[in-house]
Amino acid sequence: MSAHPEEQPQKITVRNLQAKKQAGEKIVCLTAYDASFADVLDRAGVDVVLVGDSLGMVVQGHETTLSVTVSDMLYHSKAVSRGLSRSMLMVDMPYLSYTSAQQALENAGQFMKRANAQMVKLEGGAEQIEIVSSLARNGIPVCAHLGLQPQRVHKLGGYQVQGREAGAADAMLSEAQQLEQAGADLMLLECVPQLLAERITRALDIPVIGIGAGAGCDGQILVLYDILGISKGRVPRFSRNFMAEAEDVESAVEAYIDAVKKGEFPGGEHVFS
Ligand code: KIV
Repeated sequence: MSAHPEEQPQKITVRNLQAKKQAGEKIVCLTAYDASFADVLDRAGVDVVLVGDSLGMVVQGHETTLSVTVSDMLYHSKAVSRGLSRSMLMVDMPYLSYTSAQQALENAGQFMKRANAQMVKLEGGAEQIEIVSSLARNGIPVCAHLGLQPQRVHKLGGYQVQGREAGAADAMLSEAQQLEQAGADLMLLECVPQLLAERITRALDIPVIGIGAGAGCDGQILVLYDILGISKGRVPRFSRNFMAEAEDVESAVEAYIDAVKKGEFPGGEHVFS
């Protein structure tokens, strides 16, 4: 045994996230793909570190996230896990790795058992109810992902804001409630009008994390390389380069955490209506 358990930093759990929502304290999340950046995020105080399938774009250089495999996610999740002491580790289920409850359980189980994941994230609405409920029944915390779902980019015909029409907004709210009912512990909303995101955040008991969804969510997430200004190509409008005014990577991450906690990020220029 290494240090006495009381000397080790306490890992963030689903209960901590729930308590933050109830206390009105913002939840700060970022992506990471390796141990060194994970360590920086952990020491700076990021609550949840997501090994996102965005790694297909920002690490592997693909146009979309579709080519990312379970074994890619395992490799990067294991590395990130070694860098974390306090932050919760959340791992994205890659494209076509959760087409049935059985397949989802087997793949999510690998992330939990082999990479110390504490939560998995999967894209989709009502069609994922059975999968979310099976994972929850088997003790696997789930973050559901609504709004813009990058794994469906070809079906959607591009990366666009979702839920602008009244019918689509009502449907998203209803799907969010069904996913919570099925056992999801966290909800992520991507590229959603801010008023709809606020409505969903108020309607759910579980914490809602936004990316391009406005400051009314319970927390925020961004892609690490976007906040460091090193992403290849166009950076999304909802993101901000925190490196522009920082002396080093640590200070940029701290500036992001500070801005989220104070409700200063996202600002009006980062939201959709
Ligand atoms: O893959 C990813 O990095 C994500 C974030 C954009 C939320 O899903």
